[in-house]
Amino acid sequence: MEAEIQIRLLAEDEAPPFALLHLADPSRTLIEQYLARGQCYVAADDRNDVRAAMVIVPTRPDTVEIMNLAVREDCQGKGIGKRLIQYAIHLAGERNAKTVEIGTGNSSIGQLLLYRKCGFRITGIDRDFFVRQYEEAIYENGIQCRDMIRLSLDLELGKTEM
Ligand code: COA
Repeated sequence: MEAEIQIRLLAEDEAPPFALLHLADPSRTLIEQYLARGQCYVAADDRNDVRAAMVIVPTRPDTVEIMNLAVREDCQGKGIGKRLIQYAIHLAGERNAKTVEIGTGNSSIGQLLLYRKCGFRITGIDRDFFVRQYEEAIYENGIQCRDMIRLSLDLELGKTEM
């Protein structure tokens, strides 16, 4: 039987789960920057075995962004990523935000599917974001990750609008 997973805010005296966060973002500098501006949530089982993490940052009035979302490789494909996104949407609603944003690479096809399944819609492309922000070229699914696909979910329109 699968262990029960709980999502919780990282405790103040707890080290950020960098190994996990690096699954979604190779830049330690960028991770540290958004950790300082936002809040890190972890999904852990009842023995506090951390399986996934996400960082949520208030970016503009009424807007929060999921800056990092990462599920441990041996725990992927079990619905944890989707649960974290749903949790972020719930938190955003509690904080009276109007919009939840997320960005992903032009090469991150599976992630794009996941976000669309969670109700996010594409709002734009930040061309060459990954070329500007990362020293080393990133390759995924056989192509270079250059552009960031920007997506958002309008909480006032309802989470199910696809
Ligand atoms: N290809 C196709 N579909 C995918 C997918 C993939 N790579 N990853 C998730 N999905 C779909 C699932 O089929 C599932 O659909 P369903 O609800 O209809 O069954 C849905 O998205 C939820 O999947 P889930 O099991 O919750 O995903 P996960 O727990 O594996 O988490 C990631 C997804 C992307 C967060 C996880 O794979 C991960 O941490 N990857 C490495 C880091 C990363 O890329 N982070 C995102 C940076 S933008």
